[in-house]
Amino acid sequence: MTRVFSGIKPTGHLTLGNYLGAVRRWAQAGQYEAEALFCVVDLHALTVEHDPARVRRLSRQAASLLLAAGLDPARCTLFVQSHVDEHARLSYLLECVATDGEMRRMIQYKEKSVVERARGGSVRLSLLTYPVLMAADILAYRAEEVPVGADQTQHVELTRDLAVRFNQRYGQTFVQPRATRPPVAARVMDLQDPASKMGKSHAATAGIVYLLDEPDVIRKKILRAVTDSGREVVYDPAGRPGVANLLEILAACAGGDPAALAGAYPSYGALKKEVAEAVVETLRPVRERHRELTAEPGEAERVLAEGAARARAIARPVVDAAYAAVGLLPAAR
Ligand code: AMP
Ligand code: TRP
Repeated sequence: MTRVFSGIKPTGHLTLGNYLGAVRRWAQAGQYEAEALFCVVDLHALTVEHDPARVRRLSRQAASLLLAAGLDPARCTLFVQSHVDEHARLSYLLECVATDGEMRRMIQYKEKSVVERARGGSVRLSLLTYPVLMAADILAYRAEEVPVGADQTQHVELTRDLAVRFNQRYGQTFVQPRATRPPVAARVMDLQDPASKMGKSHAATAGIVYLLDEPDVIRKKILRAVTDSGREVVYDPAGRPGVANLLEILAACAGGDPAALAGAYPSYGALKKEVAEAVVETLRPVRERHRELTAEPGEAERVLAEGAARARAIARPVVDAAYAAVGLLPAAR
């Protein structure tokens, strides 16, 4: 069976982008056709300034939202990254395989370091080495597939490069993973700024649909989405990014092809109404299940404890093998 691994950072409330780009697929094919591991990657949340209490709260919330989104703990392994030491242990070894040039070429690093500097802050070293930790997350489980949104493609490519390089130098140890993307909505854009990704840590929230937004809030955000000049509904991502984004969201929620759907709407207003209802209906079961889950607060914690134990049992021998391969003496047990 294919081994699948993916992760999500507890840096904000989960968005429609997270759901359509990644999480929905984790809940579908991920856990039925594969042996799947899903991780709240809390160590990654420390790469930028953070409030400890908030990270704790968001980590718990991410876990219960993933359950609400349909992850079944009987079929997949759900856990928190910092509960399994092997991630940090392997990350160091991979830092000895990666180069600093490679890290500095990462688009996400370039974008985020500019933001941090513009805020007058300094850039944490962990922001630069972040993709190595991500590679360790994936390689420690010998995962073959990584279901992610389009923004993570480059990081998964780097992970493949590191796996190949390590195997060539030190012997066959890791599996080369590949990123899988959804057919549409692999990069959901901000409704108020269709040039940038709908990101959960953005400060301006009017263009972001959160998984737990009430239906009326969702409708309002979508009806106020920035559209492009012109009136005809056409699918043209380069020329009309706002409308293209709405068409992709509609296709992802209600089915169909964005270009074909375009012809069905006489105006932007008609399109927005349809998109709003499709999103409300797509998120309704998640919100309802989340409400039920909050009535049993111990459940998520129990799932995470079991998940960490299962994850450790898989990762430990892989990381031990990597330590031995590079020439480190095995510790007496
Ligand atoms: P993050 O929120 O950065 O931890 O991302 C978790 C997962 O959601 C990753 O697989 C991302 O690629 C995906 N993702 C995040 N934002 C979006 C978006 N706006 N559109 C599509 N996928 C996204
Ligand atoms: N870097 C990913 C993001 O920002 C999150 C992540 C960390 C991840 N480790 C991972 C995703 C391993 C897939 C596999 O979205």
